[in-house]
Amino acid sequence: MCGIVGYLGNNKASEVILSGLEKLEYRGYDSCGICFFDVAQEAFVTYKDIGRVFHLVNDFNYQYENHLAIGHTRWATHGKPNQLNSHPHFSQNKRFAIVHNGVIENYRELTKKYLPEVHFISETDTEVIVNMIELFVKDMTVEEAIRKTLSLIEGSYALLVIDTHHPECLYAAKNKSPLLIGTGKNGITLASDIMALVGYADQYMPIGDKTFTVCKKDDYGHYIFEIYDIIGLPIHGDFLRMDLILDEIGKAGYSHYMLKEICEQPSVIRNIMEKYLSYDKFTINPEILHLLKSCDRIYILAAGTSMHAGLVGKYLFENIAKIPCEVNIASEFAYNSLLLTKNPVFIFISQSGETADLRACLVKVRELGYKTLTITNVLTSTLAREADYYLEIFAGPEIAVASTKAYVGQIVLLAILSYCLSENKPFDLKLELSKIAVAMEAIIENRDVIHTLVKERIVKRNCFYIGRGLDYYTCLEAALKLKEISYIQTEGFAAGELKHGTIALIEEGVPVIGIISQHAINNSTRANIREVMARGANKIIISLNRVSDPSDEIILMNIEEMLSPILTVVPTQLIAFFAALELGKDIDKPRNLAKSVTVE
Ligand code: M6R
Repeated sequence: MCGIVGYLGNNKASEVILSGLEKLEYRGYDSCGICFFDVAQEAFVTYKDIGRVFHLVNDFNYQYENHLAIGHTRWATHGKPNQLNSHPHFSQNKRFAIVHNGVIENYRELTKKYLPEVHFISETDTEVIVNMIELFVKDMTVEEAIRKTLSLIEGSYALLVIDTHHPECLYAAKNKSPLLIGTGKNGITLASDIMALVGYADQYMPIGDKTFTVCKKDDYGHYIFEIYDIIGLPIHGDFLRMDLILDEIGKAGYSHYMLKEICEQPSVIRNIMEKYLSYDKFTINPEILHLLKSCDRIYILAAGTSMHAGLVGKYLFENIAKIPCEVNIASEFAYNSLLLTKNPVFIFISQSGETADLRACLVKVRELGYKTLTITNVLTSTLAREADYYLEIFAGPEIAVASTKAYVGQIVLLAILSYCLSENKPFDLKLELSKIAVAMEAIIENRDVIHTLVKERIVKRNCFYIGRGLDYYTCLEAALKLKEISYIQTEGFAAGELKHGTIALIEEGVPVIGIISQHAINNSTRANIREVMARGANKIIISLNRVSDPSDEIILMNIEEMLSPILTVVPTQLIAFFAALELGKDIDKPRNLAKSVTVE
């Protein structure tokens, strides 16, 4: 959940790192730090503290000349966010500095066995790694000492190490946590995420698990790197061209990434359609279609917002493709002894493609010998690489911690997939998706109406979303979004379940937002709304025009009912955004969260 970045090259390394940390900050923002080799003093210089990267950028002394540096932005796992626990960390004699993303599971055992004399400064597991390197280097080369350490540590890591004795070398290692290497004419950059490479690399390559990388300057002054596997054999990989440009990862004039990403959703729909349309017909890799057609049940595994997209996916697979499907929360999957069908296929849905809970499931499912498909927004991600097949969402980089456009993209892709699998096409998907994009534009253009509604009725202590069928899934997602960024306690309920307990929470003035997009549930959801109003609730209804009542607060254009979650979620995203704005919350970086959850 942390972000790491390292650089060796002709540029001023500290600038590459600070710019990289700004772009990686969405991965964790409890604290951050940088360490570089100062050419004049021939020593490491470190800045690190609790707080955001902009503090680091402001406090930084830009006079130093440096060409080698590492940096880190943290989401605390071991030890609270404070200055001492911030990375980089150092070996006891200050020879080595390290940044690390991941969790070392056996750090206590290692400390006891190898480092009983070491006085640790932080509460982190990371300090153990760097001290082991310093211990082993007494009898071997740095490369050997790092490799020996790697052979003993268990867990997940992407780490970067620098050594005062070799100020022109940058060492890296990876297992389970993401790490990319990028090269450009001015040097080598390593980072957790492609975004930190933008502007510094022309090409990049995801580094594989259980590998060790050395970057150095050769005798001709060129920056080169070598990657080795666990037993020290060289590994060669294929580079990919850097397609991402700085404009795509900026705010493009919006006040917040989240608002930008909400507003991008119509073009996300159009982009996905373009990617999957061939001669006006939706096309998916025939091997994937064959796999899904021949399975007897699809098991979707996902977390958070992606799990909500999975619930809609279940509806689409069962109603359009006629394939039975069930959805499991990834972190629960390991503990439910599921009675699997004879011929299942597993679909992993993940914006980042790095969620650790999902990765653990993927490993387990593959061990059981079942086929896997990942649906992700990040082509280079671990889940994309490790599944048998993957499908890309093409939503573009999503930077706000609260997922919006990736959710819409996931459902659009699941609709395309279900549609390609169906024998009898129930509607013209291309036409329907185009209509949804237009209907979304109307909501986005008129977002001031939602802002006013939020100011007047929603900024309260708690809030409820209620709906039935597909609308219930939107309620779950809407509630997650509102609580995640505004911290208003919000729950999404199946409208019919209210009277089985939850209605006890309804009191004077509590906002209850009903979602109504389907004809079949219109009357019953409205009856539930009347029940809560009779107990003092302040209702807001989001409905599609054809099932609307003139008193409904947010009426959306008519679209295909089966696809309604793609549209009905948009006003709820705006409700969350404006509520957080009114409450003065840090919308793009809500407290305690990080964009990719790379620890289980
Ligand atoms: O990258 P993933 O889609 O696997 O992430 C899963 C969840 O962590 C994510 O959807 C989370 O719930 C979002 N922050 C919600 O906005």
